[in-house]
Amino acid sequence: MITVSAPGKLMIMGEHAVLYGHPCIVTAVDERLTVTADHLSDGHITVDTGKETDTRFVDAAIAKFFATKGIHIKDRGVSLTTRSAFTSQIGFGSSSAVSVATIKALSILFGVPFSQRDVFDMAYAAMLDVQGLGSGFDVAAATYGGTIYFVAGGKMIEPLALDAMPLVVGYTGVKASTTALVHQVAEKKEHNPEKVGRIFQAIAGLVDKAKVQILEGDWERVGKFMDFNQEYLRDLGVSSQKLEDLIGAAHESGAWGAKLSGAGGGDCMIALVPPEKREVVIAAITAAGGQVMPVHAHAEGVNEVSVLRKNTL
Ligand code: PMV
Repeated sequence: MITVSAPGKLMIMGEHAVLYGHPCIVTAVDERLTVTADHLSDGHITVDTGKETDTRFVDAAIAKFFATKGIHIKDRGVSLTTRSAFTSQIGFGSSSAVSVATIKALSILFGVPFSQRDVFDMAYAAMLDVQGLGSGFDVAAATYGGTIYFVAGGKMIEPLALDAMPLVVGYTGVKASTTALVHQVAEKKEHNPEKVGRIFQAIAGLVDKAKVQILEGDWERVGKFMDFNQEYLRDLGVSSQKLEDLIGAAHESGAWGAKLSGAGGGDCMIALVPPEKREVVIAAITAAGGQVMPVHAHAEGVNEVSVLRKNTL
């Protein structure tokens, strides 16, 4: 029996533009999802996702794993149990985390040596099978962990070296539809290709500048770039009143910068906050109707939690 866990994610900068070939920055968060896998002697495959009723991502990951060329597994019976510390409502990327954790668990259980890149590629392909779109930034965060400079499809996966990120995360309480927002932006781009193209270029420039400042640990400057990024997201029409309320509250209480994180429309906002202002900012976001999530950025990527031999249980 094998248990692995994978982290959730938060988009730091570059959402939407990343779907058009531009880079983004993503961080893994320490809310984790576990997958426990064990052999089943009857040859069946069983999946238990607990309260989460959507098994499509696990099913797709299993299908991809067993369809891989060069993997010859005689007895494919396996039971998979997934449990998450976070719900799929928040936008922490439960589908990417479960896809990555499933592939990793199966590779260990069946003794197939997969590199991180193999896990990423397979989990990303499985996710595309299910949802048809996505840059894969969430899959990269679940696989590699840490904070990553990322280009769609994994054309670039560059881990950024840093100690900790002074991040505060506020949940709006509103579930956003990534697909709907992605289509909304695509339509906007179709109607106004030059303007939207310029916005994406500008966002890409901010991402590149932020990357340099993240490596320098200059969070105040990164905060400024986040603010500019938020203005462009507003122009794209993906912010919401609730997000703006929480972002405004963070600013007024002393955050270095704040923006929405992910597709927009709801889910979470993020703020970079000086340590001495942390409590005030948390109180302000809460007073503005947000739920501050007790998460830390730059968490570890998918890893093995324990290896338990059945006969020793
Ligand atoms: O809504 P989320 O947290 O899954 O973020 C979506 C980010 C997009 O750039 C809009 C889509 C993507 O796959 O990169």
